[in-house]
Parts: sequence; C-alpha cells; structure tokens
Amino acid sequence: MTVSAKPGLPRHFLDLDRFDPATLRALIDLGKAYKAGSGPQRPLAGKILAMVFEKPSTRTRVSFEAGMKQLGGDVVALTRGDTQLGRGETIADTARVLSRFVNAIMIRTDSPGKLDDLARYATVPVINGLTDESHPCQVMADVMTYEEHRGPLAGKVVAWVGDGNNVAASWIHASAQFGCTLRIACPAPLTPSAKAVAWARERGSRVDLMTDPVAAVTGADLVLTDTWLSMGCCDESRIELLAPYQVNEALMAHAAADALFMHCLPAHRGEEVTDAVMDGPRSVVWDEAENRMHVQKAILTWCLS
Ligand code: CP
Ligand code: NVA
Repeated sequence: MTVSAKPGLPRHFLDLDRFDPATLRALIDLGKAYKAGSGPQRPLAGKILAMVFEKPSTRTRVSFEAGMKQLGGDVVALTRGDTQLGRGETIADTARVLSRFVNAIMIRTDSPGKLDDLARYATVPVINGLTDESHPCQVMADVMTYEEHRGPLAGKVVAWVGDGNNVAASWIHASAQFGCTLRIACPAPLTPSAKAVAWARERGSRVDLMTDPVAAVTGADLVLTDTWLSMGCCDESRIELLAPYQVNEALMAHAAADALFMHCLPAHRGEEVTDAVMDGPRSVVWDEAENRMHVQKAILTWCLS
C-alpha cells in the first residue's frame, strides 16, 4: 500500500485531498476485503482509539466502536460536555494528553482548524470524523458502496443536489481521486467550497456547478443529497431556498436507468428526500451506512500500521 505520511510522523486521515489516489484505492479495497471476511484478523489487538465528539453522532460513533472492537482493539468515547474541552482546555493540550493514553484519536468537531491543531500536537494518528468543511470517512464509504453495486466509479457521472456542504466538499475531493464527473446543483448562496473545486479542477477533475437540479441529475449514475440543515451551521430560513432541490421520484426519473441513490444519513424525510426515494429500489442508503464500518476498519488499520 502507498504510504502518504512522512517517515516518523503519525499516519493521519484528515481529508481526501491529502492523499495520493493509490492509497485511497488501497483503503477501499481493504474495506471490501474486511466486508468479505478476508482482511487481516485482529491486527489492532491491544490498541485503543479515543473518539472525541463535539457534535452528535449515531453512525460514526457506532461504526468506529464496532470496527475497532472487530479489529481486536477498544475505544474511549468523549463528548465535549463531559471533558475539560468543554471548560476551555485547548485542543493542543488535549492532543498531547490523549497521545499518552491511546494509540489513535478520531474527532468530530466544527472547525477544520481544530482538526489540524489536533493532528499537529498529537503524536498518534488523527482521523477526521466530520468537520464543518468535510466528511472524508463518509465519502470513502460512498465510493465503496457505489463500486460494490455498479463497479468502478471512474468515468461515471455523480450528481449532488441540495446544500453544497461538508459532505459535498469531500465528494469534490473524491471526484479527482477516483476519476468521476461531479455535477453539483445548489442554490447560488449555498455553493460548495471554492477551494475544494479549484483543487479538483487543477487535477483535471470535471466538477460542474449549476443551479438546476434536473440538469445535474439527467443521465447521472449516482444521485446524492444530504440534510438542508447541517449540525450547527444554519437556520431554517434556507429551507425555502432548498425546496426545489428535493430528491423525489420525479427528479430521479431523469437519472440513468440503473442510477443509485445515496444519503449519508440522518435523513430528513419529506425535506431533502422523499420516503419513496429513500425506500425505493435505487436507494442503497443502508449499505452505505454499513460500509462506514468496513472502510473505517481499513482506515484504522492503515493509520495504526
Ligand atoms: N453519516 C454520519 O456521519 O452519521 P452520524 O452523524 O450519525 O455519525
Ligand atoms: N452535513 C451533515 C452531515 C451529517 C453526517 C452535517 O454536517 O450535519
């Protein structure tokens, strides 16, 4: 497997734009091997992962905990309110202390600056479990899920519809790393990270930004959406703006005949997606949720190797 980390430094998993494509490919393939029951057996025996949550979580928390235990390791879960982070202890000091107790740290937080500080001061690997600006573990699971249903993502057309949020930014990174075309349809005030778009385009990725959801979805192989109200980001005034971006059966009818639908979850049924699409034959949202665990087992194995 290609190694991105510098010799002597911990192998962090911070964002998809910090890797070479071969490393991400190897992680997806190891995730598939774990799912098939053929990955290494208990490679992380005796290792402990600290999970720091400054925002709520169901999937991230349970998938990391179950995955770490299946790999032979264990976890400690910390939430902001019941740690000294909630009383103002700095991320840098928290990083130094946690590094004395555990072998890796996963963090879900708001500012990407906090993630970077944690990685800078920790002497153990740090994994991004979501910030306001990205959600790389989620998109690794999305890529794995597409591939297990439809084969390679390279050359496919992926449509993102709705808010140009943190998950969209990681999909922009993924478009360059995995070689797909990405069409993003969102209201003009909610366009995705310009920095991510510029990064992907510099690498030859085709990222098309538009405001018309039908134009984005027409002929697409994969349609994605996410909540209109990300955690801690915004007020309900944007719902009116986003209403034309609901993924419903009428919109899905414009996609390719064998198109898949994904949503990182939690879904707000009746807002960004209808029951008919969530529960319909093109939806692979439950596989997508399951694959968080398999691909994160690969990420944990890589970080701790
Ligand atoms: N998709 C995802 O990260 O879900 P949680 O917020 O439940 O962790
Ligand atoms: N965009 C969502 C993702 C939740 C997993 C949020 O940040 O709340």
